[in-house]
Amino acid sequence: MIPKLSVKIRGLTLNNPIMVASGTFGYAEEFKAFIDLKKLGAIVSKTITLKPRQGNPVPRTCETPAGMLNSIGLENPGIDVFLEDKLPYLKNLNIPIIVSISSEKDPKEFVTLARHLDMIKEVAAIELNISCPNIKHAQHMTGRGLISQDPHATYETVKSVRKITNKTLITKLSPNVTDIIEIAIAAQKAGSDALALINTITGMSIDANTKKPKIAMVVAGLSGPAIRPIAIRMVWEVYQKVKIPIIGMGGIIDASSALEFFIAGAAAISVGTANFINPKVSIEILEGLKEYLIRNNVLDIRILTGSLKV
Ligand SMILES: Cc1cc2nc3c(=O)[nH]c(=O)nc-3n(C[C@H](O)[C@H](O)[C@H](O)COP(=O)(O)O)c2cc1C
Repeated sequence: MIPKLSVKIRGLTLNNPIMVASGTFGYAEEFKAFIDLKKLGAIVSKTITLKPRQGNPVPRTCETPAGMLNSIGLENPGIDVFLEDKLPYLKNLNIPIIVSISSEKDPKEFVTLARHLDMIKEVAAIELNISCPNIKHAQHMTGRGLISQDPHATYETVKSVRKITNKTLITKLSPNVTDIIEIAIAAQKAGSDALALINTITGMSIDANTKKPKIAMVVAGLSGPAIRPIAIRMVWEVYQKVKIPIIGMGGIIDASSALEFFIAGAAAISVGTANFINPKVSIEILEGLKEYLIRNNVLDIRILTGSLKV
């Protein structure tokens, strides 16, 4: 038996539901020596902004129990260099390329970025990163916090991009909220085709000897297996209330942790921090997933989505 692995996210068909998460896989070329990139379901590129960004001061990463903190601060070369230097390699892979975008100060920057990408045939989808906790001016964007911490701001941002592009639109949500469901519903209502969850959870770590924070910006984003139970809970909560597909992520390190996300309600999954530990992990997860489906006589991965038995 060969199980069916292909999934659809609106108009976008993925050969399999294993993706790599934005910011943890560079612009893919960095990983070409380790895996056959064409085997991935899709690649989500590092978030780009209109202008180049140097990112935050160092130290900006540190290890934590079962995870890591990062405060990279969206270091990226800006859209022009991305289109000229990074996209040509990605285009040649002939798998869906999802380009993650973010604004620095003004949410209108999302629209400008999306207009550029809308014209490029090989860009399969646009991911709106409205949830990065590591940009200094983020708190000014809504007057209260991140765009994805406010249902109205989420609605307005998604809607403004939806108006100018027919490309598949994915909205990436922040777990740093009281009620993720209301944000998910706002994104769906504004025309998002899918949701990606979760981005990192804000956290801190302190060196007791120096009494200094281990991250220069003090507060950073926690990722890795430590956040998995929270991510699974959020996927499950959102799955019950929205109709659009969910791309689940947060602490996936192997096939069994990926399976948890499908069962909770994810249509596809993204591998993040685990890429730093084992650059081959995404393909190993794909193989493990196939074995699980065969062993359990599951003909189609889509049957697993939301199959949680309570
Ligand atoms: C070093 C690092 C950089 C990241 N950069 C981005 C980014 O540029 N855009 C984004 O949407 N998410 C970014 N993320 C968040 C991941 O895409 C992912 O949502 C999060 O880490 C949870 O998944 P994980 O536990 O598998 O890493 C970053 C995460 C890490 C660890």
